[in-house]
Amino acid sequence: EPELMQKIVSLCKRRGFVFQSSEIYGGLRSAYDYGPMGVELKRNLMSEWWTAMVHSREDIYGLDASIIMHPEVWRSSGHLANFTDPLVDCLVCQERFRADKAPRMAAGADAPIELADKGRAKAALAKLTEEGHVLERKGKILRGAKAGDRGYVCPNCGSPLLSPERDFNGMFRTNLGAVDPLAGVIAAVEAGVARGDDQKALRAAVDAVIAESAVYLRPETAQGMFVQFLNVQQSMSAKVPFGIAQMGKSFRNEVTVEHFIFRSCEFEQMEMEYFVEPGKGREALEYWKNERMKWWRSIGLSADKLSFREHDPSELAHYSDGTFDIEYEFPWGWDELEGVASRTNYDLSAHAAGSGKKLVYHDPEAQDPNTGKKGWRYTPHVVEPAAGATRGVLAVLCNAYAEEPADASGKGARTVLRLHPRLAPIKCAILPLVRKDGMDETARKVADEFFTAGVNAKLDMQHAIGRRYARHDEIGTPYCLTIDGQTAEDETVTIRYRDDRRQERIKIAAAVDVVRAALRE
Ligand code: GAP
Repeated sequence: EPELMQKIVSLCKRRGFVFQSSEIYGGLRSAYDYGPMGVELKRNLMSEWWTAMVHSREDIYGLDASIIMHPEVWRSSGHLANFTDPLVDCLVCQERFRADKAPRMAAGADAPIELADKGRAKAALAKLTEEGHVLERKGKILRGAKAGDRGYVCPNCGSPLLSPERDFNGMFRTNLGAVDPLAGVIAAVEAGVARGDDQKALRAAVDAVIAESAVYLRPETAQGMFVQFLNVQQSMSAKVPFGIAQMGKSFRNEVTVEHFIFRSCEFEQMEMEYFVEPGKGREALEYWKNERMKWWRSIGLSADKLSFREHDPSELAHYSDGTFDIEYEFPWGWDELEGVASRTNYDLSAHAAGSGKKLVYHDPEAQDPNTGKKGWRYTPHVVEPAAGATRGVLAVLCNAYAEEPADASGKGARTVLRLHPRLAPIKCAILPLVRKDGMDETARKVADEFFTAGVNAKLDMQHAIGRRYARHDEIGTPYCLTIDGQTAEDETVTIRYRDDRRQERIKIAAAVDVVRAALRE
């Protein structure tokens, strides 16, 4: 990872934002835990999205669908057949790669592989020879013949010898009900053997047992909104154009997890399906891509680090007639934050076909373009802004992270998270200068005023004041209120502003309003 990423990962652990999952057991590379500061930041980000998408609009309704759905959902949506990655295994270093990510070998190339470790070289040689490769080994250099190679080069060890491609479905499969699929498989195999089934018949029997109870963890939140389209529309008497919004966990068995929380197997999404009349998709796409860009800026991401990338026709998903990614310039380069896609009427049509239910909208006022008569029944088209919430947290952290050198005016070097006050885990730190002369009691009273006002403030008494400021700079607390000797005399406190470290005195009575005003900006 770039140095900046390493620093952010280290700050995240040190200050309680993000921890490696199951760290004491050696960690799990594909999942992360959000600590006391991270959970606040993530909730704040998601709540900003909900406010913008649901609470401040008349045309969008919220939904919280289950993570496990009827398995037919995934058959109809195309995920069972198409949500796959083509995989190849490197026979030399045993790494597994997505074929579309592995570099291609130039035609006829005979790249030598350098094998650092003798034992591994021997094992690799034996395995490859056994599989029919013609190989020549000179010391640490293994020259692979081209027989059987797939034209790929292993991005890890440079070996040109990779296994055949195979499709790997990225959905997490599990089983519903009091079934032990393994016991079922064993029973099916035993019964098949007793019957004298051939290999093909055995395989079919095993597949049937697995399919019987198989369910999937959703790989996107979107399908919950398509399958509840009619219920939401009818219960809310919603008129097209209208949208359904949902946020929450999604799961993908990603082959490569990378860049900290950027790509993990368990993550959170914030998605909205906007239903429009046929023919109005492109217009809605234009509208939503701009709305979503404005939103990312409104929570503090720098305009010059955000851009659109339009998918070219070869890259478009088969159901989409136009897609824009909103990209952020992460420390490793530009990468996707959100996809805004025009999905035609693919989703509702697919679920109508799969379920046998009519997923149509009836507009009694509109003229049916086919018959010219009043009253139009149609399958709405969909525009979908699909954002990553956990990925958004990373973008926000990268954008906010700053290191400042010491300057001539005596301000020391520091690391600061310049988070938008609405995203900051703690809005205001309340710091008695020392724990005596009644300062701690006054601080408690000030803190109570914030609690009553519903503003997340933290009373912080440990360590010297400088260390406390430094800690609050690193977690992005926009304001620190310091209670000192003068407080008892004139009911004032020092307010310190995170961004420029300016300090001034304000009345205790004004403190809550000063902080609240910043949250409205
Ligand atoms: N319903 C459409 C859909 O899910 P996507 O582009 O696959 O589209 C949308 O996902 C967003 O979800 C992405 O732009 C990204 O921000 C986030 N996302 C997808 N896979 C992710 C992963 N493995 N880890 C973290 N975020 C992910």
